[in-house]
Amino acid sequence: MRTGVWLVGARGSVAVTAVTGLLAMRAGLADTVGCVTESPELRDRGLPGLDELVVGGHDVVDTPLLKRSEELGAAGVVPAALVAAVASDLAAIEADIRPVPAAATQAATVAATVADLADFRRRHGLDQVVVVNVASTEPRPPRNDTHTDLGALRAALTGTEAVLPPSSLMAYAAFEAGCAFVDFTPSTGARLPALDELARLRRVPYAGNDGKTGETLVKSVLAPMFALRNLRVRSWSGINLLGGGDGASLTEPGANAAKTASKERVIGNALGYRPQGTTRIEYVEDLGDFKTAWDLISFSGFLGTAMRMEFTWHGCDSALAAPLVLDLARLAAAAHRAGRVGPLPELAFFFKDPIGEVAAGLVDQWATLVAFVAGLGEGGRAARA
Ligand SMILES: NC(=O)c1ccc[n+]([C@@H]2O[C@H](COP(=O)([O-])OP(=O)(O)OC[C@H]3O[C@@H](n4cnc5c(N)ncnc54)[C@H](O)[C@@H]3O)[C@@H](O)[C@H]2O)c1
Repeated sequence: MRTGVWLVGARGSVAVTAVTGLLAMRAGLADTVGCVTESPELRDRGLPGLDELVVGGHDVVDTPLLKRSEELGAAGVVPAALVAAVASDLAAIEADIRPVPAAATQAATVAATVADLADFRRRHGLDQVVVVNVASTEPRPPRNDTHTDLGALRAALTGTEAVLPPSSLMAYAAFEAGCAFVDFTPSTGARLPALDELARLRRVPYAGNDGKTGETLVKSVLAPMFALRNLRVRSWSGINLLGGGDGASLTEPGANAAKTASKERVIGNALGYRPQGTTRIEYVEDLGDFKTAWDLISFSGFLGTAMRMEFTWHGCDSALAAPLVLDLARLAAAAHRAGRVGPLPELAFFFKDPIGEVAAGLVDQWATLVAFVAGLGEGGRAARA
């Protein structure tokens, strides 16, 4: 199954790390460490193969992919020797990275975006295309009446006022083009009732939001531990220091608020109550793509005895995120092929702020994911029979 992966934000750190890694794995120059779909429980379960993925995308900047990849090599995010080894393959993908369409009305922008996706599908003879949003985080837009009703939204898009933020416009276009949509960012994306209606109408699945790669990943393991041992978490405070393009985008207060809200949800969901404390994100340019998160947790045990734990996470954000982008593209493609429509809560394992009512703990989410992939295999076989 030739599967298109259309990256929105294709020239960003996460996207370029994913593409560099895909090319390196395909050439046999790197192993699959970090790719969840290559773990023994999920490997060979009918997902599209790494050699069946074809990459294209949109970005608002035109920095060549090879230059971005070399920058990531120099920063130690990917091995510089690998970048040199896949340089000609990276250059070949350049033709499939398009500027973001911008027209006089959002309806016309959708039409141009759908045309880009259709052209990509046709030129490469793709069976299906998954659109993955890895663009800069947006501020949460104010609620708009047109967001809840597809008919009203369609009418409003023909006006000159922008009624949808870029991530939602992209989700709209993906659904109109018959593509699955994955939101790796905390932006609004497909999370509007009118877009859910459109996904169901076009019979496509979608998943999100906000990849779980660092501090929140650790929280999703620790918070259930406190709950299972019936320990009372009194406070949980975290600070994240990061540089890179993502860190720079998060200096914008609206984007920062969207990201911290997404990061805080897991503790309340896992514990069933909200302890004191907040999560903060600060931009430290010098850290580049390497992030430090420091969390302090105070809790009480038997007879109220007070205790504390702290952890420090030093992660390379893009190296953690990139394989998950490939995993999600493969999983969403397989779900689409198996006839799944609407949200995919079974992919909560990958997200900070999953769509739908899902278990908050990583171990439960993993069990759900494994069962989901096994079910897709059965569904896919039935659909093909
Ligand atoms: N790295 C991680 O571990 C991680 C985890 C979860 C979520 N994310 C999210 O992934 C996204 C990408 O992170 P990054 O580190 O690659 O950031 P980045 O700044 O390096 O890349 C973002 C890219 O998006 C492009 N862009 C901006 N607006 C766009 C638009 N409207 N359409 C198309 N492209 C657009 C930018 O030009 C840039 O190339 C962010 O939203 C981040 O919050 C990252």
